[in-house]
Amino acid sequence: MAVGSKPDRNLAMELVRATEAAAMAAARWMGKGDRNACDKAAVDAMRLLLASVDMDGVVVIGEGEKDEAPMLYNGERIGNGNEPRTDIAVDPIDGTRLLSLGLPNSVSVVALSERGTMFSPGPIVYMNKIAVGAAARDVVDIDAPVQDNLENIARAYGKGVEELTVVVLDRPRHRELIDQIRAAGARLKLISDGDVSASLQAATHASAVDALMGIGGSPEAVISAAAIKCLGGNIQCKLWPRDESERQRARDTGYDLNRVLNLEDLVKGDNVFFAITGVTDGELLEGVRYLGDHVSTDSLVMRSKSGTFRRIKAEHRLDKLMQYSNIPYES
Ligand code: FBP
Repeated sequence: MAVGSKPDRNLAMELVRATEAAAMAAARWMGKGDRNACDKAAVDAMRLLLASVDMDGVVVIGEGEKDEAPMLYNGERIGNGNEPRTDIAVDPIDGTRLLSLGLPNSVSVVALSERGTMFSPGPIVYMNKIAVGAAARDVVDIDAPVQDNLENIARAYGKGVEELTVVVLDRPRHRELIDQIRAAGARLKLISDGDVSASLQAATHASAVDALMGIGGSPEAVISAAAIKCLGGNIQCKLWPRDESERQRARDTGYDLNRVLNLEDLVKGDNVFFAITGVTDGELLEGVRYLGDHVSTDSLVMRSKSGTFRRIKAEHRLDKLMQYSNIPYES
């Protein structure tokens, strides 16, 4: 935090209220086929809760570029303006399509760090990524052949390549990567969306996933990096412009497309706070559940400095919440 401010406040405990609220507001749109409504409900709720946090925050990773959203946009000031001065990364829903179709693994996420410590990907919407757990932290090299990476990761985990599970977004751009992973002999898990949740699984010891590889959203890369700082794994990335005009824009705005972005480049320092709440049921988290007189949420709350990792199962009384909050938790 800024010089003079107390570093021992765990802001993640406050952030989780924002991800819970976003998850509950958006969950009522599950399966209705309306991605915009899912996103809007989550953004509105998250913004209200973040505004109440005692901080002077600036949104570095917002709804901005890809979704052209009017709120929680890059550069927006959030919080009540008091110390500490922070950078904020939000993804009110990662996996809007998943939620709109009632599919697993949509989540709501917020990360926070000291001012000036989060990487801003500017106009570059995608990054190539490789994410792994702590044991393989030092052996990945995004510029190395896929086979070499998989052999090194397997050795670090103390298993064979054929025992590794690698997650990749199921996209035509990954045809070659998928072929290479298969040729190396690793097990492959193709996902339709949601690489934040998958990156966290890759970084989590003894989860069903050993590594995430491939091209996904740049905002999601920075957010995942914040979580991985807390979890102790690694994520390495490279900006991935979609076409010549994006490449040119990147050069014009001073981005080095050959630069390997390490964990420390994506989120600097060791005072990173992270909260994530499940929206639909998934491997990492339970989704929002409607249980008669209350609603339950399932969240993870982390802080890099202390290394504390909490799982918070909460019960919420929507009838009570709606008496004093402006969030329409019920339709
Ligand atoms: P949204 O929920 O913002 O749509 O993101 C979902 C997601 O699957 C991310 O997890 C991933 O990083 C990105 O989209 C991949 O982008 P694309 O769908 O364009 O390949």
